[in-house]
Amino acid sequence: MPSTLLRTAPALRAGLRARAAKPLAAAASTGFVRGKATLPDLPCAASPSIPHSVWAFAGFSADADADDYGALEPHISGQIMELHHSKHHQTYVNGFNAAVEALSEAQHKNDSKAAAAQAPLLNFHGGGHVNHSLFWENLAPNGKGGGGEPEGKLMTAISEDFGSFDNLKKQTNAALAGIQGSGWAWLVKDKASGTLSLVTRANQDPVTGNLEPLLGIDAWEHAYYLQYQNRKVEYFSAIWNVINWGTVAKRFEK
Ligand SMILES: [Fe+2]
Repeated sequence: MPSTLLRTAPALRAGLRARAAKPLAAAASTGFVRGKATLPDLPCAASPSIPHSVWAFAGFSADADADDYGALEPHISGQIMELHHSKHHQTYVNGFNAAVEALSEAQHKNDSKAAAAQAPLLNFHGGGHVNHSLFWENLAPNGKGGGGEPEGKLMTAISEDFGSFDNLKKQTNAALAGIQGSGWAWLVKDKASGTLSLVTRANQDPVTGNLEPLLGIDAWEHAYYLQYQNRKVEYFSAIWNVINWGTVAKRFEK
């Protein structure tokens, strides 16, 4: 079950920054080709069928090659990034497509039981695809938009709802450390009130409903274990050095 965490007096500010509800922004990299989900773009010259728009958006060069998997080092190793994208994310894409096909087949057969059986697979693999597509956009190398502090309206909102940027980081790291098993922590915006808060999600459950996901941090072991082993707290601290606040600000201001 999702849990809302540690928001600083949001109700008082809700009216001040109330915004009209808007539809959940789709992950820019969640592509569909002939009804199929496709792996979002990453820099791998060895896989020319994979375009590069997501990495380019995140501050990587448009003609990036496989070396760019290491662009987030020393904070996240190239080995982790390559496996995370090309193996783990691909598995979610494959699983999502298989579930969509199975659902379509069940619909054609008017087989309600078979259709219902796809629900958890659609949530898990579809959520995995959406979450990771957002995650890649969250990240950028130092000097190319990664790290530093948020600015402008986003920073103002963070200061109002969390007290300070440092508090946001501390509360996010505490939320990440508190995840039992696999899951994510998200900085989200309430679509009705415009207030910010932190939520966690188990496994690959996506952020849906009235919450707009602005920034997600992957707390699955596959996101850090090859580099940080049991020291996941170090990973949670290091990832702030490669957060692309420009991406987060754009989502916030939609
Ligand atoms: Fe992941």
